Amino acid sequence: MAKEINTIGVLSSGGDAPGMNAAIRAVVRTAIYRGKKVKGIRKGYNGLLNEDIIDMQAKDVSDTIQRGGTILYTARCPEFREEVYQKKGAEICRKHGIDGLVVIGGDGSFAGAQKLASLGINTIGIPGTIDLDIACTEYTIGFDTAVNTAMEAIDKVRDTSTSHERCSIIEVMGRRAGYIALWCGIANGAEDILLPEKYDYNEQELINNIIANRKRGKKHHIIINAEGIGHSTSMARRIEAATGLETRATILGHMQRGGSPSCRDRMTASVMGAYAVDLLCKGENNRVVALKNGEYVDYDIDEALAMKKSISDYQFEVGKLLSI
Ligand code: ADP
Ligand code: F6P
Repeated sequence: MAKEINTIGVLSSGGDAPGMNAAIRAVVRTAIYRGKKVKGIRKGYNGLLNEDIIDMQAKDVSDTIQRGGTILYTARCPEFREEVYQKKGAEICRKHGIDGLVVIGGDGSFAGAQKLASLGINTIGIPGTIDLDIACTEYTIGFDTAVNTAMEAIDKVRDTSTSHERCSIIEVMGRRAGYIALWCGIANGAEDILLPEKYDYNEQELINNIIANRKRGKKHHIIINAEGIGHSTSMARRIEAATGLETRATILGHMQRGGSPSCRDRMTASVMGAYAVDLLCKGENNRVVALKNGEYVDYDIDEALAMKKSISDYQFEVGKLLSI
């Protein structure tokens, strides 16, 4: 017999992502609708260890679906990787009557959830990260808003780059993954897209491409560089020295993480939040909610964390061929 859950805790962890509030709202309201109590844990695992825990009612999430960031705040909590703190976290959940927990975050946050699950707290993960780097799911909450924010910013850089006939390197986020760079590279019509998964660090090839494009009459040369490669400023200096073309580097940074979530992020977050609560109500534990072939599904966290994801060779190829 699966144990009945009475009180559901919810926290956001790792980097924030637009749509996390929509997920929190869905968890709170679905849980209350199903007759459960809800506790919000502020500042991720840090807040759990510090017992920064609040009671939440349906009205506490009013007027939040359209807001970026996370009303529960978030944090990185390195000590939660240690067993002693994981045990302390599980004890604190028990002390506050939290017998089901929803963790909104990325792979790192799921690893923490997995530990709590093994310590007797029924735990469900919801993929929330702008990076799209969670293997078990086609979609992660925040990605759509982030790529649209980045795309609009890159369009603006492109305008000034064309006016000055410059080369521009624009660095986008993504940690070790190149999904934001690939999507913006294609959507912004970049001349070069540098992804950690694909880049061979052959800068001479990049330089030759810039020179060849200029000879063909291109007025600008946009390079989208992924954070996982980085070093955009020094790369710009080397390109300017080798090509004689004025080259500027722009690092978009944290602006990509903020802003009002897109419709896709609000919708996905709302369904995933409700789905997570329904899994807990069915007595499920150690699961992560995912989108697979357009359907909402769930996987065992151990299985999810062992999955691998890769950048599509075809999409990367398309990005290259469209830049001729
Ligand atoms: P994300 O969840 O976006 O991948 P992080 O990798 O920064 O972000 O992880 C968020 C938090 O999850 C960490 O600060 C830590 O508290 C927790 N965490 C990460 N890895 C583990 C792990 N192996 N075991 C337990 N907790 C972890
Ligand atoms: O995981 C989201 C993300 O924005 C990554 O793209 C980036 O590498 C990282 O978080 C930045 O983290 P911080 O906000 O701690 O600088």
